[in-house]
Amino acid sequence: GNLSFTTSYQTAIQSAELIIIAVGTPSAADETADLRYVFASAKSLAPYIQENAIVVIKSTVPPGTLEKGIEIIKEATSTKFYGASLPEFLREGSAVHDTLNPDRIVIGATENFVFEKLEELHQKLQAPVVRCKVASAQMAKYTANSYLATRITFINEIANLCEKNGADIDEVIKAIGHDKRIGQHYWYPGLGYGGSCFPKDVKELAAYSRSVGESGNLLNRVNEINSNRIFYLLEKFAKKINGFENKTVAVLGLSFKPNTDDMREAPATKIIPYLSEKGAQIKSYDPMAKYSMEIKNHQQFATIEEACNNADVIMAVVEWPEIIDFDFAKVKNSKTQFFIDCRNQFKSEIVKSWNYQYIGIGKR
Ligand code: UGA
Repeated sequence: GNLSFTTSYQTAIQSAELIIIAVGTPSAADETADLRYVFASAKSLAPYIQENAIVVIKSTVPPGTLEKGIEIIKEATSTKFYGASLPEFLREGSAVHDTLNPDRIVIGATENFVFEKLEELHQKLQAPVVRCKVASAQMAKYTANSYLATRITFINEIANLCEKNGADIDEVIKAIGHDKRIGQHYWYPGLGYGGSCFPKDVKELAAYSRSVGESGNLLNRVNEINSNRIFYLLEKFAKKINGFENKTVAVLGLSFKPNTDDMREAPATKIIPYLSEKGAQIKSYDPMAKYSMEIKNHQQFATIEEACNNADVIMAVVEWPEIIDFDFAKVKNSKTQFFIDCRNQFKSEIVKSWNYQYIGIGKR
């Protein structure tokens, strides 16, 4: 009984003490954040806002957005209200867990009343609370995502070097990860970052940098390296297997990461058209996502076994538990096959014992 839904702004807003705007902020054509949905909701809620309500922006937005939203509301009402920024740091596929177990709550506001109210809202979660300026809260969100994206890009670059000199990227990560300043976490190398957040947020922060007279060089470069990464790797794999032409390739994993059917900026959306272009037959599998684009020579299968039977190449693209726990010894193959471990989730000796030639990332 605590939760209800409505499509009426009036019903939702007229008795609300807190109003949370959580609409999408996709990238506009110039790669800045498209804020039209944020401002449209501010405009729609304005007539119904009650005295002392707090309007909170949870959407990922650049500094200056809350102030503009407040202006829009003020054009429609003389009621006194407050504004705040409350960025979210949830991951897809574990959003409920992340909501209930946040590493921190970041509140950007100017009045004590607002900080206290929003702290009260999160009291039960027992997470550290960071009170800060509105602009700091908005920057914190972009900074967190851009840092993580840069970290992944950095380790992917190091993986490229390891392949040249015989080092093994997994060993390198283990070796440096004991340094507490660095850690082992969150930088498994692979096909680059995807999804609806990192690619967009890195581009938006770069565009924001340019809009305030900074070049955004680092972020532009991170975006560029990541966008090219899959093609860079595909060319490399092609050399190792003597070309994809006339080969049957099993592509395992279509979503951008496990535990979601989201295919936005998913590696498969680049890999499958590329393979088709090169003259390969593609058999794909995913436990949740459905590949809906019509691609020549591509068929999606309901099981890993069907997708892999008699394939010349198996590409483990996403680290779904179903895929990494699968016993590939069950697959029927009459010829030598290649096994491309795109996320370094398999032990090469085990893959070899299944009778495949192993190809990983950042190792020979
Ligand atoms: C990301 C952030 O992790 C969340 O904190 C943030 O709130 C969210 O964006 C958002 O802005 O809404 P999400 O996109 O769900 O969450 O996915 P992640 O699990 O962080 O993975 C992002 C991408 O990085 C995936 O393509 C993943 O495969 C890749 N990745 C991740 C790596 O290549 N290596 C890693 O070590 C970790």
